[in-house]
Parts: sequence; structure tokens; C-alpha cells
Amino acid sequence: MENLKQMAGVKAAEYVTDGMVVGLGTGSTAYYFVEEIGRRIREEGLSITAVTTSSVTTQQAQGLGIPLKSIDQVENVDVTVDGADEVDPHFNGIKGGGGALLMEKVVAIPTKHYIWVVDESKLVEHLGAFKLPVEVVQYGAEQVFRRFERAGYRPSFRKKEGQRLVTDMQNFIIDLDLKKIDDPLALAEELDSMVGVVEHGLFNGLVQTVIVAGQKGLEILEKKIGE
Ligand code: A5P
Repeated sequence: MENLKQMAGVKAAEYVTDGMVVGLGTGSTAYYFVEEIGRRIREEGLSITAVTTSSVTTQQAQGLGIPLKSIDQVENVDVTVDGADEVDPHFNGIKGGGGALLMEKVVAIPTKHYIWVVDESKLVEHLGAFKLPVEVVQYGAEQVFRRFERAGYRPSFRKKEGQRLVTDMQNFIIDLDLKKIDDPLALAEELDSMVGVVEHGLFNGLVQTVIVAGQKGLEILEKKIGE
């Protein structure tokens, strides 16, 4: 599995060329992309500026000597490479398994070419077997939690070492155990309109290229125009 993740991450680095502003994703697959960018800077003199999607990735990038800017210091991001937890045939996906969904989406929006790197186990017919992460403000989080319970979404607070996980942006995460999401667009709209919800892990139709690593090698899925 580690090998598949590495194949996808290294392949994605081929989309990066000199002078680009590059979004560095978060997670165990994006990790390999970031490592490869570091190697190319060191060994090939690649010249880029990067923005990161989590404090963990910031630390990794700093360790590799990748020049960083904050997302507010750049107009656009040329290419962002990130992982995903599930991807459906319509290029909708779930992200946030690592708790970084808010920063990841903030970087994804101004990105011109948004790429995901996944192993083949992440491709699904319907989203929802992976619990959908929802980032909520701490104030009134239990109110939001109870609303989810009443809606039958089987919520649970994300925990770390027995305590509620606090994200890089100082919020909580509530994971929704939905099993199968029939209409990701409608659910995204519902969550977008809920007071107390900062962001959710539904990334609908944002990604343009999905690099899939499988036992038989790499496959590159491109979103068709208008899809
Ligand atoms: C981080 O919050 C996530 O969105 C990750 O990008 C996603 O969970 C994929 O991570 P892995 O590549 O580690 O599976």
C-alpha cells in the first residue's frame, strides 16, 4: 500500500514546473508528493513557491527547504496535489480523514489545476462508507451534534488521546456515519447552510485529475469538461 501511495505522489510531481505556486496537500499519500517536490528542489534546482494545507504539511515542507507563502499572499495556486478518502465516478469526494479539510478546501478553491492522489481502494460507486467529517465551531458544538442526531446522521466527535480533536483552525470535527450518501450536492448545500458548521468534507466536482495507483500500475482519470 505504501508503495502505491508513493507511486501516485511521485507521479503528481510531474505536473509541477518552475515558477509555479504549488498547493501541498495533507495525508499519507500527499506526503510522498511533498517529499518528491523537496527532492526536485534539492537535486534539480526546481524553483517554486508553495502553500500548505495543514500544520503537519508546513512542518514537512520546512524540513525539506520548500519556500512557503501563506494562502493570502498569493492570487491563485497553479497546481494543488492532495489525497482523498473517497472518490465517486462524478469526481465528488470525501476529504478530512486527517482533520485538515478546512485548510484543504481554502487552498483548493483558488487552484487552477486541482489533483488528487489516491490508491485504488478510494474509488467508490457511492460516497458515505467513509464517515463524513464536518468542522464545527467549538461554541455550540453540542447543539450542532444534536441536530445531526435528530437528522439520523449518527454523529461522533473526532477524538485524539481521549479528548476532542481541535483542528489547526481551532474547531472540532464531528464525523457523520452516513453509510451511503444518495445526493452529495444536496447534502453539501444542507451543511453549508447550518449555523455552527464551518466546513465539511464533501469536495463536490472540484478535482480535475485523479491519479490512481493500483496493483496494475497508475491510472489517470480526467474530469470531462462540463461534467
Ligand atoms: C486530510 O484531512 C485528508 O483530507 C487527507 O487528504 C485524506 O484523508 C487522504 O489521506 P491519506 O492519503 O492518508 O489516505
